[in-house]
Amino acid sequence: MVADDTPKRAAIELRGVTKAFVVESQRVEALHDVSLRIERGSCVAVTGRSGAGKSTLLHIIGTLDRPSQGSVMIGGVDVSRLSDQVTSKFRNEKLGFVFQSSNLLPEFTALENVMMPGVISGVRGSGARKRAARLLDAVGLGARANHRPAELSGGEQQRVAIARALFMEPEVLLADEPTGNLDKNTSLAIQDLLIDLAARHNTTMILVTHDQQLAERMPSRIVMEDGRVLSGTGVAL
Ligand SMILES: Nc1ncnc2c1ncn2[C@@H]1O[C@H](COP(=O)(O)OP(=O)(O)OP(=O)(O)O)[C@@H](O)[C@H]1O
Ligand SMILES: [Mg+2]
Repeated sequence: MVADDTPKRAAIELRGVTKAFVVESQRVEALHDVSLRIERGSCVAVTGRSGAGKSTLLHIIGTLDRPSQGSVMIGGVDVSRLSDQVTSKFRNEKLGFVFQSSNLLPEFTALENVMMPGVISGVRGSGARKRAARLLDAVGLGARANHRPAELSGGEQQRVAIARALFMEPEVLLADEPTGNLDKNTSLAIQDLLIDLAARHNTTMILVTHDQQLAERMPSRIVMEDGRVLSGTGVAL
């Protein structure tokens, strides 16, 4: 028998990623030669000053934007080389997003919002409803399934957004200041919920936060400055 010494496949691997924007002939490098490797199931906090490149990094990992140079591998797939159509499908099936504002669809109930990624990819029927209901239970909102977003508090809307992000059982959950609009106690509760759900589903999670205290509760961390990753804990650079 030959021992299998192949390294564990990273959930996310960036190699030499640069992202430049040109605005009125001014070139801004939002990311400069970023390389990092995040193992499957890690929970990584990203911190750094405003303008450091945190959201750009998340957008690039989330296939919402493409690098100017370098490669992005997610679960062994080089997403920088996929066509736009394949990228959209990949994003819907493999990635979950939570942003600072929940971006729920106002005319749909909490339950319907949670099911939305499934509707987009053609997953329908009572199985989908049951799954959405289970996820709403998991975020403590089973009793709010038929409320529309305007009938929910900010923290509740954010919990619906988390349930929606998990509906497709994504390999990677990307959260950009998900608790930025919430009070301290609600922030802590939402962060606990994210960490707990990610651990239960073996989801890799990357969470951008300005809150140092929140960041320090995460097992892995990276600090960004001027488009570069300054340091990493639990993340190979
Ligand atoms: N679409 C764009 N066009 C031009 N420049 C951009 C664009 N997006 C971001 N930038 C620039 O890239 C840099 C990094 O922006 P980014 O949004 O990634 O920062 P951030 O770390 O998320 O900041 P914040 O904490 O304020 O959200 C900034 O200097 C920003 O002005
Ligand atoms: Mg940002």
